[in-house]
Amino acid sequence: MKTLTVALPGREYDILIQRGLLDQAGAYCRKALPRAGRLFVVTDSNVAPLYAPRLEASLTAAGFSVTVHVVPAGEASKCAGQLAGLWEAMMAAGLTRTDAVVALGGGVVGDLAGFAAATILRGVDFVQIPTTLLAQVDSSVGGKVAIDLEAGKNLAGAFWQPKLVLMDPDTLDTLPDATFADGMAEVIKYGCILDGTFFDFLAHRPSRKEIMAEIEHVLYTCCNLKRIVVEEDERDTGKRMLLNFGHTLGHAYEKAGHYEKWTHGQAVAAGMVKAAGLGERLGITPAGTADRIAAVLTALDLPVEISCTAEEYAAAIGLDKKGAGADISVILLEEMGRAIPHKMPKAALLEELK
Ligand code: NAD
Ligand code: GLY
Repeated sequence: MKTLTVALPGREYDILIQRGLLDQAGAYCRKALPRAGRLFVVTDSNVAPLYAPRLEASLTAAGFSVTVHVVPAGEASKCAGQLAGLWEAMMAAGLTRTDAVVALGGGVVGDLAGFAAATILRGVDFVQIPTTLLAQVDSSVGGKVAIDLEAGKNLAGAFWQPKLVLMDPDTLDTLPDATFADGMAEVIKYGCILDGTFFDFLAHRPSRKEIMAEIEHVLYTCCNLKRIVVEEDERDTGKRMLLNFGHTLGHAYEKAGHYEKWTHGQAVAAGMVKAAGLGERLGITPAGTADRIAAVLTALDLPVEISCTAEEYAAAIGLDKKGAGADISVILLEEMGRAIPHKMPKAALLEELK
């Protein structure tokens, strides 16, 4: 078993990584949630038939009363309607302040269930059991929970740290290739921004099969890097912003594709290559870095270039006529494995991107 502890004062929690861990979830939840009698498990319509019965059996064997609540798979479930449905179902199930919520699924389920846990009865305990690569390396760690609004993604939310994060790498076996590749964009991002040696490790394993052969090391390395960032900047006012490498431009690509043509991971992949190229032109990033990142992404079937109009870039960086003089902080690479925020006028950034 690989174990990490996120050492936030008064809210510390473990991240446990082991193949087959799903069947031992009951025992570990019992340890992390000594007061809880009932667990309210939130999952989605794809994950429920694959993994909910095993989780329910393990939790029940550990003495918990279990309610399983299934939401439709997909980003659309991260909405106020589903959140309200969860609140009502939690009350109908008899959830009390000493009970807990368990998220079994990808980032959608984790963000939605986590926000429900943060708000029901003014906040109850919460366990993350992430089942996508993205959720295992990113969204299940760090306590950001949210739903989407008409006005944009993740606009209503909270910082609500889990009591425990349990990841079973075997659950990744059932992911479609494209969903696995989406998670790999975030994995590669960690190498780019925080750990050049890890980037080289990934570059030498350019396929899903080779990554899965080392998956515990990959998950541990990513979660450890995120742990360090979150311990230093839980509330996202400094170092945590480095995790946005490739994301500002990625948002432009997601929007340009009307959130249908490109997944988040694909958009971030192209965004990282564009940001590395920008850094090279500004003399901040060593020449050849964008090509190195592109080679790893290409091997995993991720796009390295997405076309986008100047208007779409302008919207993504928040550049309108009024904001023409304002600065923006873009995350650039000083070298592979070391990212910095770089402040520049939005108008100058737009010129560079065209
Ligand atoms: P997702 O939760 O929609 O999962 C992707 C797809 O995989 C879904 O169809 C899901 O049903 C399916 N799935 C999940 N596990 C599976 C498995 N083991 N086998 C087969 N299918 C499975 O998407 P995601 O990529 O996991 O997460 C994206 C969400 O995460 C977005 O809403 C994003 O905003 C959020 N996010 C949050 C944070 C954070 O810090 N809270 C960070 C990054 C992303
Ligand atoms: N995924 C970005 C963060 O957790 O801050």
